[in-house]
Amino acid sequence: MKRKITPINHERVLKEGDFVVSKTDTKGRITYCNEIFLELSGYQEKELLGAQHNIIRHPDMPRGVFYFLWQTIAQGNECFAYVKNMAKDGSYYWVFANVTPDFDERGQINGYFSVRRRPKKEAVALMTDIYAAMLAEEKRVGTKDAINASLGLLTSKLDELNTSYEEFILSL
Ligand SMILES: Cc1cc2nc3c(=O)[nH]c(=O)nc-3n(C[C@H](O)[C@H](O)[C@H](O)COP(=O)(O)O)c2cc1C
Repeated sequence: MKRKITPINHERVLKEGDFVVSKTDTKGRITYCNEIFLELSGYQEKELLGAQHNIIRHPDMPRGVFYFLWQTIAQGNECFAYVKNMAKDGSYYWVFANVTPDFDERGQINGYFSVRRRPKKEAVALMTDIYAAMLAEEKRVGTKDAINASLGLLTSKLDELNTSYEEFILSL
């Protein structure tokens, strides 16, 4: 059961050198998280293990970002993303995440890893604006067209800058 949490305007900040780690099964259910993950998110380990990773999803995050993330990792590729997460008390914390598939000995994906670190302030400021525009677009067009519309917005921004998603994200 997912409790409804009200976001509050209080930021939790990662320390330089902190690594926030979690692991999921192929369906996005949490199978491991490290101590820093627990501290930041404010959950106990037993509340997180087996829960969907969207337990820390912040409502300011556009759906298009997660669609893109899942599409990328399910194809066996790594994905970098700036993510605003929500702790159990409603506080938020920004991370720079690197999500990778975890392959078994036969080369099949048997889960995913995410390693997150402290993001640069300027990158967060920029991504805040981009995500706000994507979210507004998702709300404007409605659920059915939300992902196409917000990813379309992101793609046209990248086209304007004549760059790819990964090149852009890694340049911030
Ligand atoms: C390894 C891994 C780590 C993830 N980490 C996060 C995270 O920190 N925050 C988050 O909101 N979603 C994270 N996700 C994505 C969630 O599974 C989910 O797609 C997202 O929260 C959107 O929720 P929704 O699909 O219910 O809309 C992660 C997924 C994987 C596979």
